[in-house]
Amino acid sequence: MSMLFAKKSMDLLMKEAEGEGENTLERALGPFQLTALGVGAVIGAGIFVMAGLGAHYAGPGLMLSFVLSGLGCGFAGLCYAEFAAMIPLAGSAYTYAYATLGELIAWIIGWDLTLEYAMGASTVSSGWSNNFVELLNVFNLKFPLWLAYDHWTGLRKAMEEVGRDVMSRSFPSLAPGSQDYIKQMSELIAAPTADMVTRAHQVLGAPTLFGHEIGINLPALIIALLITTVLAIGIKESAKFNSTIVVVKVAVVLFVIGLGAKYVHPGNWGTNWHEFAPFGMSGIGAAAAYIFFAYIGFDAVSTTAQEAKNPQRDLPIGMIASLFVCTLLYIGVAAVLTGMVPWQSVNIEAPLARAFLDRELVWASDVIVVGALAGLTSVMLVMLLGQTRVLYAMASDGLLPKKFFAEVHPRFRTPFKNTFLVGTLAGVVGAVTPIDDIGKMVNIGTLLAFVIVCTSILVLRRTDPGRHRPFRTPWVPFVPVMGILANGYLMVKLGWLNWARLIVWLAIGLVVYFTYSVKHSRVRQRLTNSVGVKG
Ligand code: ALA
Repeated sequence: MSMLFAKKSMDLLMKEAEGEGENTLERALGPFQLTALGVGAVIGAGIFVMAGLGAHYAGPGLMLSFVLSGLGCGFAGLCYAEFAAMIPLAGSAYTYAYATLGELIAWIIGWDLTLEYAMGASTVSSGWSNNFVELLNVFNLKFPLWLAYDHWTGLRKAMEEVGRDVMSRSFPSLAPGSQDYIKQMSELIAAPTADMVTRAHQVLGAPTLFGHEIGINLPALIIALLITTVLAIGIKESAKFNSTIVVVKVAVVLFVIGLGAKYVHPGNWGTNWHEFAPFGMSGIGAAAAYIFFAYIGFDAVSTTAQEAKNPQRDLPIGMIASLFVCTLLYIGVAAVLTGMVPWQSVNIEAPLARAFLDRELVWASDVIVVGALAGLTSVMLVMLLGQTRVLYAMASDGLLPKKFFAEVHPRFRTPFKNTFLVGTLAGVVGAVTPIDDIGKMVNIGTLLAFVIVCTSILVLRRTDPGRHRPFRTPWVPFVPVMGILANGYLMVKLGWLNWARLIVWLAIGLVVYFTYSVKHSRVRQRLTNSVGVKG
Protein backbone atom coordinates (compact mmCIF):
# COMPACT_ATOMS: atom_id res chain seq x y z
CA MET A 1 0.00 0.00 0.00
CA SER A 2 2.71 2.46 1.02
CA MET A 3 4.37 1.79 -2.37
CA LEU A 4 1.36 3.42 -4.03
CA PHE A 5 2.39 6.65 -2.39
CA ALA A 6 6.14 6.15 -2.92
CA LYS A 7 7.71 9.57 -3.49
CA LYS A 8 10.54 10.51 -5.76
CA SER A 9 13.11 12.16 -3.55
CA MET A 10 13.89 15.80 -4.20
CA ASP A 11 17.60 15.02 -4.22
CA LEU A 12 17.15 12.45 -6.97
CA LEU A 13 15.08 14.96 -8.95
CA MET A 14 17.82 17.55 -8.65
CA LYS A 15 20.37 15.05 -9.91
CA GLU A 16 18.18 14.23 -12.92
CA ALA A 17 17.70 17.92 -13.64
CA GLU A 18 21.45 18.35 -13.83
CA GLY A 19 21.99 15.33 -16.13
CA GLU A 20 23.64 16.07 -19.47
CA GLY A 21 24.67 13.88 -22.39
CA GLU A 22 23.42 12.46 -25.67
CA ASN A 23 20.17 11.03 -24.45
CA THR A 24 19.06 14.31 -22.92
CA LEU A 25 17.02 17.17 -24.28
CA GLU A 26 18.74 20.32 -25.52
CA ARG A 27 18.86 23.48 -23.36
CA ALA A 28 18.03 26.16 -25.91
CA LEU A 29 15.19 28.35 -24.57
CA GLY A 30 15.56 31.81 -23.01
CA PRO A 31 12.94 34.02 -21.30
CA PHE A 32 11.59 35.48 -24.54
CA GLN A 33 11.06 32.09 -26.18
CA LEU A 34 9.48 30.72 -22.99
CA THR A 35 7.02 33.62 -22.75
CA ALA A 36 6.28 33.23 -26.46
CA LEU A 37 5.60 29.52 -25.89
CA GLY A 38 3.12 30.48 -23.16
CA VAL A 39 1.36 33.05 -25.36
CA GLY A 40 1.60 30.57 -28.26
CA ALA A 41 -0.29 27.94 -26.29
CA VAL A 42 -2.84 30.31 -24.83
CA ILE A 43 -4.33 32.58 -27.51
CA GLY A 44 -6.46 30.40 -29.78
CA ALA A 45 -9.93 28.91 -30.06
CA GLY A 46 -10.87 30.21 -26.62
CA ILE A 47 -10.81 33.85 -27.67
CA PHE A 48 -11.45 33.53 -31.41
CA VAL A 49 -14.40 31.12 -31.09
CA MET A 50 -15.58 30.31 -27.56
CA ALA A 51 -15.93 33.93 -26.46
CA GLY A 52 -19.10 33.93 -28.61
CA LEU A 53 -21.00 31.35 -26.56
CA GLY A 54 -19.43 32.85 -23.43
CA ALA A 55 -21.22 36.14 -24.23
CA HIS A 56 -24.53 34.27 -24.35
CA TYR A 57 -23.89 32.81 -20.87
CA ALA A 58 -22.69 36.02 -19.22
CA GLY A 59 -23.81 38.98 -21.37
CA PRO A 60 -21.37 41.92 -21.24
CA GLY A 61 -20.33 40.43 -17.88
CA LEU A 62 -18.10 38.25 -20.08
CA MET A 63 -15.37 40.75 -19.20
CA LEU A 64 -15.70 39.66 -15.56
CA SER A 65 -15.72 35.99 -16.60
CA PHE A 66 -12.30 36.54 -18.14
CA VAL A 67 -11.14 38.22 -14.94
CA LEU A 68 -12.47 35.34 -12.81
CA SER A 69 -10.94 32.63 -14.97
CA GLY A 70 -7.69 34.61 -15.22
CA LEU A 71 -7.54 34.90 -11.42
CA GLY A 72 -7.91 31.13 -11.01
CA CYS A 73 -5.08 30.66 -13.50
CA GLY A 74 -3.01 33.37 -11.80
CA PHE A 75 -3.18 31.60 -8.43
CA ALA A 76 -2.33 28.27 -10.06
CA GLY A 77 0.38 29.94 -12.16
CA LEU A 78 2.14 31.27 -9.05
CA CYS A 79 2.13 27.75 -7.59
CA TYR A 80 3.39 26.25 -10.85
CA ALA A 81 6.17 28.83 -10.88
CA GLU A 82 7.49 27.75 -7.46
CA PHE A 83 7.61 24.12 -8.54
CA ALA A 84 8.97 24.79 -12.00
CA ALA A 85 11.88 26.78 -10.58
CA MET A 86 12.53 24.24 -7.83
CA ILE A 87 12.19 21.05 -9.93
CA PRO A 88 13.16 22.02 -13.49
CA LEU A 89 12.23 18.69 -15.08
CA ALA A 90 10.11 17.94 -18.13
CA GLY A 91 7.09 16.39 -16.44
CA SER A 92 5.51 19.55 -14.99
CA ALA A 93 2.59 18.81 -12.64
CA TYR A 94 3.24 15.08 -12.93
CA THR A 95 6.78 15.47 -11.58
CA TYR A 96 5.70 17.90 -8.83
CA ALA A 97 3.07 15.42 -7.63
CA TYR A 98 5.63 12.58 -7.68
CA ALA A 99 7.80 14.54 -5.29
CA THR A 100 5.02 15.54 -2.93
CA LEU A 101 1.94 13.35 -3.07
CA GLY A 102 3.46 10.08 -4.29
CA GLU A 103 3.40 7.82 -7.32
CA LEU A 104 -0.31 7.04 -7.59
CA ILE A 105 -1.37 10.70 -7.59
CA ALA A 106 1.53 11.48 -9.95
CA TRP A 107 0.27 8.81 -12.35
CA ILE A 108 -3.28 10.14 -12.12
CA ILE A 109 -2.10 13.65 -12.92
CA GLY A 110 0.18 12.49 -15.74
CA TRP A 111 -2.70 10.57 -17.27
CA ASP A 112 -5.01 13.52 -16.65
CA LEU A 113 -2.61 15.85 -18.47
CA THR A 114 -3.30 13.95 -21.71
CA LEU A 115 -6.76 15.50 -21.51
CA GLU A 116 -5.22 18.94 -21.45
CA TYR A 117 -2.46 18.49 -23.99
CA ALA A 118 -3.30 15.69 -26.46
CA MET A 119 -7.08 16.18 -26.38
CA GLY A 120 -6.53 19.94 -26.40
CA ALA A 121 -4.44 19.59 -29.56
CA SER A 122 -7.14 17.40 -31.18
CA THR A 123 -9.86 19.89 -30.34
CA VAL A 124 -7.82 22.75 -31.72
CA SER A 125 -6.92 20.80 -34.90
CA SER A 126 -10.57 20.59 -35.75
CA GLY A 127 -11.02 24.34 -35.06
CA TRP A 128 -8.00 24.98 -37.28
CA SER A 129 -9.64 23.02 -40.07
CA ASN A 130 -12.90 25.03 -39.78
CA ASN A 131 -10.94 28.24 -40.21
CA PHE A 132 -8.97 26.78 -43.08
CA VAL A 133 -12.16 25.76 -44.90
CA GLU A 134 -13.49 29.32 -44.26
CA LEU A 135 -10.34 30.79 -45.76
CA LEU A 136 -10.69 28.59 -48.85
CA ASN A 137 -14.29 29.83 -49.16
CA VAL A 138 -12.94 33.39 -49.34
CA PHE A 139 -11.16 32.30 -52.52
CA ASN A 140 -14.27 30.44 -53.71
CA LEU A 141 -12.55 27.09 -53.23
CA LYS A 142 -14.82 24.38 -51.85
CA PHE A 143 -13.55 21.41 -49.90
CA PRO A 144 -15.81 18.33 -50.22
CA LEU A 145 -17.75 17.98 -46.96
CA TRP A 146 -16.65 14.39 -46.38
CA LEU A 147 -13.01 15.50 -46.49
CA ALA A 148 -13.51 18.61 -44.37
CA TYR A 149 -15.30 17.10 -41.35
CA ASP A 150 -15.66 13.88 -39.41
CA HIS A 151 -18.64 11.82 -40.60
CA TRP A 152 -21.21 13.09 -38.07
CA THR A 153 -20.28 16.75 -38.40
CA GLY A 154 -20.15 16.43 -42.21
CA LEU A 155 -23.64 14.95 -42.26
CA ARG A 156 -24.92 17.75 -40.00
CA LYS A 157 -23.40 20.36 -42.31
CA ALA A 158 -24.95 18.62 -45.34
CA MET A 159 -28.33 18.57 -43.58
CA GLU A 160 -28.00 22.30 -42.84
CA GLU A 161 -27.38 22.93 -46.52
CA VAL A 162 -30.49 20.96 -47.46
CA GLY A 163 -32.41 22.71 -44.66
CA ARG A 164 -31.48 26.16 -46.03
CA ASP A 165 -32.75 25.10 -49.43
CA VAL A 166 -36.06 23.83 -48.02
CA MET A 167 -36.41 27.03 -45.94
CA SER A 168 -35.92 29.25 -48.97
CA ARG A 169 -38.78 27.49 -50.73
CA SER A 170 -41.14 26.89 -47.80
CA PHE A 171 -40.61 30.16 -45.88
CA PRO A 172 -39.36 32.64 -48.48
CA SER A 173 -40.46 35.62 -46.38
CA LEU A 174 -38.25 34.74 -43.38
CA ALA A 175 -34.92 36.56 -43.34
CA PRO A 176 -32.00 34.14 -42.83
CA GLY A 177 -30.51 34.74 -39.40
CA SER A 178 -33.74 36.12 -37.89
CA GLN A 179 -35.05 34.52 -34.69
CA ASP A 180 -38.05 32.98 -36.52
CA TYR A 181 -35.82 31.62 -39.26
CA ILE A 182 -33.47 30.01 -36.75
CA LYS A 183 -36.42 28.46 -34.87
CA GLN A 184 -38.04 27.01 -38.00
CA MET A 185 -34.72 25.76 -39.29
CA SER A 186 -33.88 23.94 -36.04
CA GLU A 187 -37.31 22.29 -36.02
CA LEU A 188 -36.82 21.23 -39.64
CA ILE A 189 -33.40 19.72 -38.97
CA ALA A 190 -34.45 18.05 -35.74
CA ALA A 191 -37.14 16.03 -37.58
CA PRO A 192 -36.06 15.83 -41.24
CA THR A 193 -38.23 14.12 -43.86
CA ALA A 194 -36.96 10.96 -45.57
CA ASP A 195 -36.37 13.03 -48.69
CA MET A 196 -34.20 15.51 -46.76
CA VAL A 197 -32.15 12.65 -45.33
CA THR A 198 -31.54 11.19 -48.80
CA ARG A 199 -30.55 14.60 -50.14
CA ALA A 200 -28.20 15.22 -47.21
CA HIS A 201 -26.35 12.00 -48.00
CA GLN A 202 -26.12 13.09 -51.63
CA VAL A 203 -24.72 16.49 -50.61
CA LEU A 204 -22.20 14.76 -48.35
CA GLY A 205 -21.15 12.63 -51.35
CA ALA A 206 -18.94 10.39 -49.21
CA PRO A 207 -17.47 7.13 -50.59
CA THR A 208 -18.17 4.04 -48.53
CA LEU A 209 -15.92 1.51 -46.86
CA PHE A 210 -17.49 -1.83 -45.84
CA GLY A 211 -20.90 -0.25 -46.39
CA HIS A 212 -20.20 2.77 -44.13
CA GLU A 213 -19.81 6.34 -45.35
CA ILE A 214 -16.36 7.75 -44.70
CA GLY A 215 -15.78 11.17 -43.17
CA ILE A 216 -12.28 12.49 -42.53
CA ASN A 217 -11.29 15.94 -41.39
CA LEU A 218 -8.27 15.93 -43.68
CA PRO A 219 -6.98 19.46 -42.90
CA ALA A 220 -6.97 18.58 -39.17
CA LEU A 221 -4.91 15.46 -39.82
CA ILE A 222 -2.47 17.22 -42.15
CA ILE A 223 -1.81 20.18 -39.83
CA ALA A 224 -1.21 17.80 -36.91
CA LEU A 225 1.33 15.86 -38.97
CA LEU A 226 3.09 19.00 -40.20
CA ILE A 227 3.42 20.37 -36.68
CA THR A 228 4.63 17.00 -35.46
CA THR A 229 7.41 17.13 -38.03
CA VAL A 230 8.53 20.58 -36.81
CA LEU A 231 8.53 19.30 -33.23
CA ALA A 232 10.55 16.23 -34.11
CA ILE A 233 13.18 18.30 -35.93
CA GLY A 234 14.21 20.27 -32.88
CA ILE A 235 13.25 22.45 -29.94
CA LYS A 236 15.08 25.51 -31.35
CA GLU A 237 13.27 25.23 -34.67
CA SER A 238 9.95 24.70 -32.87
CA ALA A 239 10.51 27.76 -30.68
CA LYS A 240 11.45 29.92 -33.65
CA PHE A 241 8.39 28.79 -35.59
CA ASN A 242 6.23 29.50 -32.53
CA SER A 243 7.68 32.97 -31.89
CA THR A 244 6.98 34.03 -35.48
CA ILE A 245 3.37 32.89 -35.25
CA VAL A 246 2.93 34.56 -31.87
CA VAL A 247 3.92 37.94 -33.31
CA VAL A 248 1.23 37.54 -36.00
CA LYS A 249 -1.51 36.50 -33.64
CA VAL A 250 -0.83 39.11 -30.98
CA ALA A 251 -0.85 41.72 -33.76
CA VAL A 252 -4.26 40.44 -34.90
CA VAL A 253 -5.67 40.55 -31.35
CA LEU A 254 -4.40 44.14 -30.93
CA PHE A 255 -5.95 44.94 -34.30
CA VAL A 256 -9.33 43.57 -33.11
CA ILE A 257 -9.14 45.72 -29.99
CA GLY A 258 -7.89 48.85 -31.79
CA LEU A 259 -10.29 48.77 -34.73
CA GLY A 260 -13.18 47.34 -32.71
CA ALA A 261 -12.94 50.14 -30.13
CA LYS A 262 -14.05 52.57 -32.84
CA TYR A 263 -17.32 50.68 -33.24
CA VAL A 264 -18.19 50.22 -29.56
CA HIS A 265 -21.56 51.52 -28.35
CA PRO A 266 -21.20 51.75 -24.57
CA GLY A 267 -24.99 51.27 -24.33
CA ASN A 268 -24.42 47.61 -25.32
CA TRP A 269 -22.64 47.09 -21.99
CA GLY A 270 -25.83 48.08 -20.17
CA THR A 271 -26.50 50.87 -17.74
CA ASN A 272 -26.99 48.81 -14.60
CA TRP A 273 -25.83 45.52 -13.10
CA HIS A 274 -28.83 43.62 -14.44
CA GLU A 275 -28.14 44.70 -18.00
CA PHE A 276 -24.41 44.12 -17.58
CA ALA A 277 -24.89 40.64 -16.13
CA PRO A 278 -28.31 39.42 -17.35
CA PHE A 279 -27.84 36.02 -15.67
CA GLY A 280 -26.12 37.36 -12.57
CA MET A 281 -23.01 35.87 -11.00
CA SER A 282 -24.18 32.39 -11.96
CA GLY A 283 -24.00 33.29 -15.67
CA ILE A 284 -20.62 34.93 -15.19
CA GLY A 285 -19.36 31.78 -13.42
CA ALA A 286 -20.72 29.44 -16.12
CA ALA A 287 -19.03 31.54 -18.81
CA ALA A 288 -15.80 31.59 -16.79
CA ALA A 289 -15.78 27.78 -16.64
CA TYR A 290 -16.41 27.61 -20.37
CA ILE A 291 -13.92 30.23 -21.53
CA PHE A 292 -11.32 28.82 -19.14
CA PHE A 293 -10.24 26.99 -22.28
CA ALA A 294 -8.88 30.33 -23.51
CA TYR A 295 -6.24 30.31 -20.74
CA ILE A 296 -5.20 26.70 -21.05
CA GLY A 297 -1.61 26.28 -22.09
CA PHE A 298 0.47 28.76 -20.07
CA ASP A 299 1.44 25.85 -17.83
CA ALA A 300 2.86 24.01 -20.87
CA VAL A 301 5.88 26.30 -20.45
CA SER A 302 6.82 24.25 -17.40
CA THR A 303 7.00 21.05 -19.47
CA THR A 304 9.99 22.51 -21.31
CA ALA A 305 11.97 22.87 -18.07
CA GLN A 306 14.72 20.56 -19.33
CA GLU A 307 15.09 22.65 -22.45
CA ALA A 308 15.33 26.05 -20.71
CA LYS A 309 18.79 27.64 -20.44
CA ASN A 310 18.11 29.10 -17.01
CA PRO A 311 14.94 27.36 -15.83
CA GLN A 312 15.03 28.62 -12.27
CA ARG A 313 14.76 32.25 -13.34
CA ASP A 314 13.04 31.98 -16.70
CA LEU A 315 10.23 29.47 -16.13
CA PRO A 316 8.41 31.69 -13.61
CA ILE A 317 8.93 34.65 -15.97
CA GLY A 318 7.61 32.67 -18.96
CA MET A 319 4.47 31.47 -17.23
CA ILE A 320 3.49 34.58 -15.35
CA ALA A 321 4.34 37.04 -18.13
CA SER A 322 2.35 35.06 -20.71
CA LEU A 323 -0.62 34.79 -18.39
CA PHE A 324 -0.53 38.51 -17.63
CA VAL A 325 -0.29 39.54 -21.30
CA CYS A 326 -3.11 37.20 -22.33
CA THR A 327 -5.43 38.28 -19.50
CA LEU A 328 -5.13 41.93 -20.54
CA LEU A 329 -5.72 41.09 -24.20
CA TYR A 330 -8.73 38.92 -23.36
CA ILE A 331 -10.45 41.53 -21.23
CA GLY A 332 -9.88 44.01 -24.07
CA VAL A 333 -11.38 41.65 -26.65
CA ALA A 334 -14.38 40.82 -24.41
CA ALA A 335 -15.03 44.55 -23.88
CA VAL A 336 -14.84 45.28 -27.60
CA LEU A 337 -16.96 42.30 -28.64
CA THR A 338 -19.81 42.98 -26.19
CA GLY A 339 -19.53 46.72 -26.91
CA MET A 340 -19.76 46.25 -30.69
CA VAL A 341 -22.61 43.75 -30.69
CA PRO A 342 -25.58 43.44 -28.31
CA TRP A 343 -24.75 40.22 -26.43
CA GLN A 344 -27.91 38.44 -27.68
CA SER A 345 -26.67 38.83 -31.26
CA VAL A 346 -23.06 37.75 -30.78
CA ASN A 347 -22.30 35.01 -33.32
CA ILE A 348 -21.34 31.66 -31.84
CA GLU A 349 -19.15 30.11 -34.53
CA ALA A 350 -16.95 33.08 -35.44
CA PRO A 351 -17.88 35.92 -33.05
CA LEU A 352 -15.03 38.31 -33.84
CA ALA A 353 -14.96 37.85 -37.60
CA ARG A 354 -18.75 38.16 -37.71
CA ALA A 355 -18.78 41.37 -35.63
CA PHE A 356 -16.63 43.04 -38.30
CA LEU A 357 -18.46 41.42 -41.24
CA ASP A 358 -21.72 42.88 -39.93
CA ARG A 359 -20.10 46.31 -40.25
CA GLU A 360 -19.16 45.38 -43.81
CA LEU A 361 -15.49 45.32 -42.92
CA VAL A 362 -14.87 42.19 -44.97
CA TRP A 363 -11.11 42.78 -45.09
CA ALA A 364 -10.99 42.99 -41.29
CA SER A 365 -12.82 39.70 -40.92
CA ASP A 366 -10.33 38.13 -43.35
CA VAL A 367 -7.47 39.42 -41.19
CA ILE A 368 -9.15 37.78 -38.19
CA VAL A 369 -9.52 34.42 -39.97
CA VAL A 370 -5.78 34.51 -40.75
CA GLY A 371 -5.02 35.46 -37.12
CA ALA A 372 -7.18 32.60 -35.86
CA LEU A 373 -5.40 30.15 -38.17
CA ALA A 374 -2.01 31.35 -36.97
CA GLY A 375 -3.24 31.29 -33.37
CA LEU A 376 -4.48 27.75 -33.54
CA THR A 377 -1.30 26.54 -35.23
CA SER A 378 0.90 27.60 -32.33
CA VAL A 379 -1.61 26.33 -29.74
CA MET A 380 -1.34 22.89 -31.33
CA LEU A 381 2.43 23.14 -31.46
CA VAL A 382 2.84 23.88 -27.75
CA MET A 383 0.10 21.44 -26.66
CA LEU A 384 1.74 18.60 -28.57
CA LEU A 385 5.12 19.67 -27.23
CA GLY A 386 3.76 19.57 -23.66
CA GLN A 387 2.23 16.14 -24.16
CA THR A 388 5.43 14.61 -25.49
CA ARG A 389 7.47 16.00 -22.58
CA VAL A 390 5.06 14.68 -19.95
CA LEU A 391 5.16 11.22 -21.54
CA TYR A 392 8.95 11.49 -21.73
CA ALA A 393 9.08 12.16 -17.98
CA MET A 394 6.68 9.32 -17.16
CA ALA A 395 8.65 6.90 -19.32
CA SER A 396 11.96 8.02 -17.79
CA ASP A 397 10.47 6.96 -14.45
CA GLY A 398 9.51 3.58 -15.93
CA LEU A 399 5.75 4.16 -15.71
CA LEU A 400 5.50 3.88 -19.50
CA PRO A 401 7.77 1.93 -21.91
CA LYS A 402 11.08 3.77 -21.67
CA LYS A 403 12.60 2.61 -24.95
CA PHE A 404 9.77 4.08 -26.90
CA PHE A 405 8.66 7.18 -25.03
CA ALA A 406 11.94 8.42 -23.57
CA GLU A 407 14.33 7.72 -26.43
CA VAL A 408 15.93 10.94 -27.63
CA HIS A 409 17.06 11.31 -31.24
CA PRO A 410 20.88 11.64 -31.26
CA ARG A 411 20.92 14.54 -33.73
CA PHE A 412 17.58 16.32 -33.21
CA ARG A 413 17.68 15.84 -29.41
CA THR A 414 13.91 15.37 -29.28
CA PRO A 415 11.84 12.39 -28.10
CA PHE A 416 11.00 11.71 -31.74
CA LYS A 417 9.16 8.35 -31.51
CA ASN A 418 6.90 9.64 -28.79
CA THR A 419 6.39 12.87 -30.79
CA PHE A 420 5.25 11.03 -33.92
CA LEU A 421 2.91 8.78 -31.96
CA VAL A 422 1.31 11.67 -30.07
CA GLY A 423 1.01 13.88 -33.17
CA THR A 424 -0.50 11.12 -35.28
CA LEU A 425 -2.99 10.07 -32.60
CA ALA A 426 -4.04 13.67 -31.92
CA GLY A 427 -4.48 14.21 -35.68
CA VAL A 428 -6.50 11.02 -36.14
CA VAL A 429 -8.77 11.81 -33.19
CA GLY A 430 -9.27 15.33 -34.55
CA ALA A 431 -9.97 13.88 -38.02
CA VAL A 432 -12.61 11.29 -37.22
CA THR A 433 -14.31 12.38 -33.97
CA PRO A 434 -17.05 14.95 -33.48
CA ILE A 435 -14.78 16.95 -31.28
CA ASP A 436 -17.10 19.18 -29.24
CA ASP A 437 -17.61 16.73 -26.40
CA ILE A 438 -13.94 15.81 -26.20
CA GLY A 439 -13.15 19.54 -26.00
CA LYS A 440 -15.16 19.84 -22.81
CA MET A 441 -12.98 17.23 -21.14
CA VAL A 442 -9.97 19.45 -21.76
CA ASN A 443 -11.22 22.06 -19.28
CA ILE A 444 -12.03 19.68 -16.46
CA GLY A 445 -8.76 17.78 -16.90
CA THR A 446 -6.70 20.97 -16.75
CA LEU A 447 -8.61 22.33 -13.76
CA LEU A 448 -7.91 19.11 -11.88
CA ALA A 449 -4.19 19.49 -12.62
CA PHE A 450 -4.29 23.07 -11.28
CA VAL A 451 -6.03 21.98 -8.08
CA ILE A 452 -3.45 19.25 -7.50
CA VAL A 453 -0.51 21.61 -8.11
CA CYS A 454 -1.92 24.16 -5.62
CA THR A 455 -2.43 21.36 -3.08
CA SER A 456 1.11 20.12 -3.64
CA ILE A 457 2.52 23.55 -2.76
CA LEU A 458 0.76 23.41 0.61
CA VAL A 459 2.07 19.87 1.20
CA LEU A 460 5.69 20.61 0.27
CA ARG A 461 5.86 23.81 2.31
CA ARG A 462 4.97 21.62 5.32
CA THR A 463 7.03 18.51 4.54
CA ASP A 464 10.15 20.20 3.18
CA PRO A 465 10.15 23.82 4.36
CA GLY A 466 13.92 24.24 4.20
CA ARG A 467 14.40 23.32 0.54
CA HIS A 468 15.95 26.02 -1.68
CA ARG A 469 13.14 27.70 -3.62
CA PRO A 470 14.47 30.02 -6.35
CA PHE A 471 10.91 31.36 -6.76
CA ARG A 472 8.51 31.41 -3.82
CA THR A 473 4.74 31.54 -4.31
CA PRO A 474 3.74 34.72 -2.44
CA TRP A 475 1.22 34.75 0.44
CA VAL A 476 1.14 31.02 1.16
CA PRO A 477 -1.35 29.61 2.19
CA PHE A 478 -3.67 32.31 0.75
CA VAL A 479 -2.63 31.93 -2.90
CA PRO A 480 -2.72 28.09 -3.12
CA VAL A 481 -5.94 27.91 -1.12
CA MET A 482 -7.54 30.48 -3.43
CA GLY A 483 -6.20 28.49 -6.40
CA ILE A 484 -7.90 25.35 -5.06
CA LEU A 485 -11.17 27.19 -4.42
CA ALA A 486 -11.29 29.16 -7.68
CA ASN A 487 -10.38 26.22 -9.91
CA GLY A 488 -12.52 23.80 -7.86
CA TYR A 489 -15.45 26.20 -8.30
CA LEU A 490 -14.96 26.20 -12.08
CA MET A 491 -14.86 22.37 -12.02
CA VAL A 492 -18.19 22.31 -10.21
CA LYS A 493 -19.61 24.72 -12.78
CA LEU A 494 -18.76 22.25 -15.57
CA GLY A 495 -21.57 19.88 -14.53
CA TRP A 496 -21.90 16.18 -13.78
CA LEU A 497 -21.52 14.93 -17.35
CA ASN A 498 -17.99 16.28 -17.56
CA TRP A 499 -17.23 14.82 -14.13
CA ALA A 500 -18.46 11.44 -15.38
CA ARG A 501 -16.19 11.70 -18.45
CA LEU A 502 -13.24 12.64 -16.25
CA ILE A 503 -13.85 9.70 -13.92
CA VAL A 504 -14.11 7.21 -16.81
CA TRP A 505 -10.86 8.53 -18.30
CA LEU A 506 -9.05 8.27 -14.96
CA ALA A 507 -10.42 4.74 -14.43
CA ILE A 508 -8.89 3.67 -17.77
CA GLY A 509 -5.62 5.20 -16.60
CA LEU A 510 -5.71 3.20 -13.38
CA VAL A 511 -6.06 -0.04 -15.36
CA VAL A 512 -2.88 0.85 -17.28
CA TYR A 513 -1.13 1.80 -14.03
CA PHE A 514 -1.93 -1.43 -12.23
CA THR A 515 -1.21 -3.67 -15.23
CA TYR A 516 2.02 -2.03 -16.46
CA SER A 517 3.42 0.83 -14.42
CA VAL A 518 3.56 -0.74 -10.96
CA LYS A 519 5.77 -3.51 -12.37
CA HIS A 520 8.21 -1.14 -14.07
CA SER A 521 8.38 1.86 -11.75
CA ARG A 522 12.00 2.83 -11.15
CA VAL A 523 11.22 4.51 -7.85
CA ARG A 524 9.57 1.30 -6.59
CA GLN A 525 12.51 -0.77 -7.79
CA ARG A 526 14.93 1.57 -6.01
CA LEU A 527 12.91 1.44 -2.81
CA THR A 528 12.60 -2.36 -2.97
CA ASN A 529 16.36 -2.71 -3.56
CA SER A 530 17.27 -0.41 -0.70
CA VAL A 531 14.92 -2.30 1.66
CA GLY A 532 16.50 -5.55 0.38
CA VAL A 533 20.02 -4.22 0.95
CA LYS A 534 19.21 -2.95 4.41
CA GLY A 535 17.34 -6.18 5.23
N1 ALA B 1 -5.90 28.28 -24.83
C1 ALA B 1 -5.94 27.56 -26.04
C2 ALA B 1 -6.98 28.06 -26.96
O1 ALA B 1 -7.73 28.92 -26.60
C3 ALA B 1 -6.11 26.10 -25.78
O2 ALA B 1 -7.06 27.58 -28.08
